[in-house]
Amino acid sequence: MALSLGFRRRRFVVRPLEAVDSAALSALHAEDFARPWTEDEFEALLSQDTVFGFAAVAEGVPDAPPWGFVLARSAAGEAEILTITVSRSCRRRGIGHALMDAVLRTLHAGRVEALFLEVDENNAPAVALYRRLGFREVGRRPGYYAHAAGRTHALVMRRDLG
Ligand SMILES: CC(C)(COP(=O)(O)OP(=O)(O)OC[C@H]1O[C@@H](n2cnc3c(N)ncnc32)[C@H](O)[C@@H]1OP(=O)(O)O)[C@@H](O)C(=O)NCCC(=O)NCCS
Repeated sequence: MALSLGFRRRRFVVRPLEAVDSAALSALHAEDFARPWTEDEFEALLSQDTVFGFAAVAEGVPDAPPWGFVLARSAAGEAEILTITVSRSCRRRGIGHALMDAVLRTLHAGRVEALFLEVDENNAPAVALYRRLGFREVGRRPGYYAHAAGRTHALVMRRDLG
């Protein structure tokens, strides 16, 4: 069931991801990630029982390309965020927060104990979003991300769900 959410401009709904979304997810992923995942990679991930996610789409236009999505994996009482992205033109409208909230609610209902993620320490928008959602830093991977200007550390963050 899709959840309708209002925001300053147009409205969006959050609905579960399906394998048929794979091409659109790959296109959106390419907006921000240096090595975008292919349509086949998304399809393979979404075919796994442990992988699930949500898309934010314009209300009343369910077949339009998503404005954002999140993909997560849950196994053995713990879960991780595999990726999350919101289209550049749709940021700062609560979509990222709503997508993460949908994941947290799903995991809470499934009695999962903790959600983990990795984020570039210099990715201020994402770090701010995660801190706001109650994630705390539990580790650091030095030089994990390679950029043209050099390497940056990954923060490992955890959100308890108990
Ligand atoms: C991180 C990302 C998903 C956030 O999505 P979003 O829809 O813009 O986030 P929201 O509008 O839901 O923001 C929720 C909160 O996060 C924080 N936040 C989001 N963007 C921020 C920014 N640019 N600067 C500071 N804080 C920010 C704020 O606390 C914000 O609440 P507020 O708007 O009431 O102040 C988005 O910036 C994105 O897609 N980035 C590129 C991909 C990426 O980096 N993914 C994460 C990889 S780990």
